[in-house]
Amino acid sequence: MNKIAVLTRDCAGVNAAIRSVVRTAINYNLEVVGVEKGYDGLIDERFIPLNRRSVSGIINKGGTILKTSRSERFFSEEYQRKAVENIKKNNIDGLIIIGGNGSLTGAHILASKYNIPIVGIPATIDNDVTGVDLTLGADTAVNVALDALDKIRDTATSLERIFVIEVMGRKCGYIAVELALAGGCEEVLVPEMEFDIDLMCDEIKKGNQNGKISWIIIVAEGKAKASDIAQLITDKTGLETRVAVLGHIQRGGKPTSKDRIIAARLGYHAVKALIDNKSDICVSIKNENIYYIDLSMAIEKKNIDIDSYYKLIKMLT
Ligand code: F6P
Repeated sequence: MNKIAVLTRDCAGVNAAIRSVVRTAINYNLEVVGVEKGYDGLIDERFIPLNRRSVSGIINKGGTILKTSRSERFFSEEYQRKAVENIKKNNIDGLIIIGGNGSLTGAHILASKYNIPIVGIPATIDNDVTGVDLTLGADTAVNVALDALDKIRDTATSLERIFVIEVMGRKCGYIAVELALAGGCEEVLVPEMEFDIDLMCDEIKKGNQNGKISWIIIVAEGKAKASDIAQLITDKTGLETRVAVLGHIQRGGKPTSKDRIIAARLGYHAVKALIDNKSDICVSIKNENIYYIDLSMAIEKKNIDIDSYYKLIKMLT
């Protein structure tokens, strides 16, 4: 192995992971290039040389210095072959791919179908990679959302209002349940769970009669729109509601110390795994130890134990 490439999606901690990959690789006398714009960069041959200095001052920065894309083209075999051709043409012996389910699916295609040595680093705010306790970016996302929630709570409490807060998670309620538990919220709606709006409105009405007026309800974007839930609550209870959609602020921002440490460790172990001829896997930390997970398994749908989160959230309200 002489030359490796690193390709990324974006979330907090990705830059710290690029830094770790680049500096580890240089320590092992490997040449490193960055792939700009994700899988589109493989197709369009956008490789840039990276050295120790190109990754200085980025450990605390959100996003990705390499830029990224959701590449539609990479879904077609024609462009997959183009990407493989460019990898070979540029003498790249292996790739480290940092991203969530979509990126790791692309990584699995390159490794299993085209025999390119690939090691993945799971990075997504959704924390939905199977076999991985905590993906890069998830801790920062929950903390960013929690900071916003605490501020909203000030108003909710002062004005005794009902707030519905929408968080990211198209298919997964990870951020929603973590936030509801960490933020002491009354209710949470997630894609993985059936929800009875009438039951919730009855609880709100009863609470209201007993003097409990302020409620904070978290909704994962994949379950419903916060504005629709708020309208239903008003229609069914006659009470005023307010809405906050947190959106992409959850994916950006300064990574937490936890994410920076995950990034440093996984970056190092990903390079080591490539050197040790491992491929079609992603690296992960479980109980403080490093694990290798087959990409075919990592990209299966992960089931979070929503039930136990939910029971605890409800018991503590
Ligand atoms: O996969 C991470 C994620 O942040 C989801 O939670 C969210 O639904 C989606 O990406 C948003 O993607 P985009 O930035 O393309 O709108």
